[in-house]
Amino acid sequence: MENRVIIGGQWGDEGKGKIIDAFGEGFDWVLRYQGGANAGHTIQVGAKEHVLHLIPSGIFREGVRCFLGNGMVIDPWALRDEIVALEEKGVSVRDRLYVSSAASLLMPYHKRLDELREQLRKRKSIGTTGRGIGPAYQDKLQRSGLRLGALTMPLEKLERTAIEHILEANEILAGQFEAEPLPAKVLAEELVVLAQTLRPMIVDGFTALRGIRERRESALFEGAQGTLLDIDHGTFPYVTSSNCTVGGAVTGTGLPPRSLGEIVGVFKAYCTRVGNGPFPTELLAEEGEHLRKLGGEFGATTGRPRRCGWFDLVAGRYTVGVNGLSGAVITKLDVLDTLPTIKVAEAYDLDGERLDDFPVRPDMLPRVRPVLKEIPGWEKPTNKAKKLADLPSPARKYLEYLEKELGVLIVGVSVGKARDEMILTPTGVTT
Ligand code: GDP
Ligand code: IMO
Ligand code: MG
Repeated sequence: MENRVIIGGQWGDEGKGKIIDAFGEGFDWVLRYQGGANAGHTIQVGAKEHVLHLIPSGIFREGVRCFLGNGMVIDPWALRDEIVALEEKGVSVRDRLYVSSAASLLMPYHKRLDELREQLRKRKSIGTTGRGIGPAYQDKLQRSGLRLGALTMPLEKLERTAIEHILEANEILAGQFEAEPLPAKVLAEELVVLAQTLRPMIVDGFTALRGIRERRESALFEGAQGTLLDIDHGTFPYVTSSNCTVGGAVTGTGLPPRSLGEIVGVFKAYCTRVGNGPFPTELLAEEGEHLRKLGGEFGATTGRPRRCGWFDLVAGRYTVGVNGLSGAVITKLDVLDTLPTIKVAEAYDLDGERLDDFPVRPDMLPRVRPVLKEIPGWEKPTNKAKKLADLPSPARKYLEYLEKELGVLIVGVSVGKARDEMILTPTGVTT
């Protein structure tokens, strides 16, 4: 079974959770490699909907082992809550969840600093999820943060170490923000209790993933966020703090590039963004509101309304190129079922000049206007379709157009939330 990496093709929330669950059967492992509890991956199993923030979406496939890689920033309070909530629903977690000892430990002061830095940015705020992601990665890169491995220290030493780190953070809170200190002793004691719960799951990644490296075990890599939120290749500074693009799967697991296999990008049949920053195809006012209602576009982590717009081929081709995608999956095709006309950005216009390539310079993107192509809608339901031929002809034409213009095979089309509302198209959608 060939390994696969699933990457967000836009600004996150493309439906990666559903696709990972749908593709997850038969893999030995599902691996998260970057980000933290800023992710919100929704999976519908039967009539029940689950939202995962840290635990890989493979957890709903029996027998699949799940791994949280060294590239992640992990809030142990959030991880414990997620494990307990899943177990209460009857999903076994502890015996098949493995956490890299080299993952970064995200502490309560990171969340507080995230909030305060956002307040300081005022009108220029990023619109973060408030989960402490930026400050936790900052501590990692400064080489001052703790790692998950710290939870395996003798408990007294862990308590002392945690207190030291919290007191240091309290100095920053007081000195830079005139903010109240966090209760060091209370939090350190809580961490000691959490350590005892999480310890059995903390492993050395190099050893745990040996079977994948030696090609005896198969792996599905679960990306979080999306290409345009990547710290290096996204719409900086309105991005997250990790590499959501394909390289993150290598550095964030310690597995070599040749273990990646197929690189599949997930794109919505339109586009959304949550948080601030440029969004060339955004629809404002009623048009945007209409698409938001059709797609149920509210954040899975923060509940914020998502900004909605048309599919952006300029950004899409950039995603295909940056990640070297071998395939694409289009999700939420059904959301467009009632629209008489669909639009797609073929290019951008910048001060009267046509741009076919995504401008990486942050001063250009806010000024571009999309060059839109109109495509006839199908005005028929698509969610019962099991194969391409079941789709109305204009819907097939839309997919063929996307495949041609993106320059990558569309290997799957999702037409609803449920696992089986999915058309597999391994040889593409163009007949
Ligand atoms: P992720 O972060 O990429 O995993 O995506 P989210 O879970 O944040 O958001 C995707 C939303 O779309 C979730 O509510 C999914 O249940 C839903 N979804 C996924 N695929 C489809 C689809 O093909 N059709 C419809 N209608 N909803 C879908
Ligand atoms: P999934 O995995 C959509 C956005 C935030 C903000 C920016 C930085 O569900 O696709 P952060 O908290 O990471 O510092 O916020 O990134 N963002 C997401 N948007 N989906 C996500 O994850 C996101 N994770 C972060 O809204 O604009
Ligand atoms: Mg999401």
